[in-house]
Amino acid sequence: MSRGRLALATGNRGKIREIEEALAGLDMEILTRDDFRDWPPLEETGKTFEENALAKALELARWSGMPALADDSGLEVEALGGAPGVDSAVYAGTHGDDASNLARLLREMQGVPPSRRRARFVCVIALASPAGERMLVRETCEGAVAETPRGEGGFGYDPVFVPEGMDRTMAELSLREKNAVSHRGKALRRLRVMLDSGEPAWLFAAPRREGWGE
Ligand code: IMP
Repeated sequence: MSRGRLALATGNRGKIREIEEALAGLDMEILTRDDFRDWPPLEETGKTFEENALAKALELARWSGMPALADDSGLEVEALGGAPGVDSAVYAGTHGDDASNLARLLREMQGVPPSRRRARFVCVIALASPAGERMLVRETCEGAVAETPRGEGGFGYDPVFVPEGMDRTMAELSLREKNAVSHRGKALRRLRVMLDSGEPAWLFAAPRREGWGE
């Protein structure tokens, strides 16, 4: 049996679903945290999205003995010199406290005129092998920070992010509409195109090793 395996370095259910959807139909068994007895600490201590995604993918690939996929994402605001950037999830102090992170962003942006509210979401996806081979995909979604939150959908900074060419915030879009323009949706589609064309070759050549990390 030559079916390849891929470990996902995220415990986030929403992301797992999106990634599984993007990889559907490939001859690849997807393993998540629930498939392993223990789980290595996967830390985000880098200064760039690339460093963070790569560190997590390399660590999980080494630990599990199979290729691994990790992602890192966040919001860069021009008027704030690129902040919150890689600190997007901890901007207000507590990891993943979306409401406080968004409140801090609006405070920092108070009085900034519309012409200076440009921002972008960034998503970097890293694939790594146990031998240290690696591949990166980066995509962005350009837009602007709204003055007040609108919409109930999505998560994180979605209620204050208006994608370029739209007048609704990300949180006012349906999931399908968001995926069509979002940084993560674009990165996953590009990843799929690469995988469909057999890239990276090491992912498909990786031997299946029973019993590793399980
Ligand atoms: P991470 O990629 O899980 O580290 O997420 C980083 C943080 O970036 C999240 O906690 C959100 O605050 C923000 N973020 C990333 N992607 C999105 C998105 O699609 N919408 C809104 N916020 C996002």
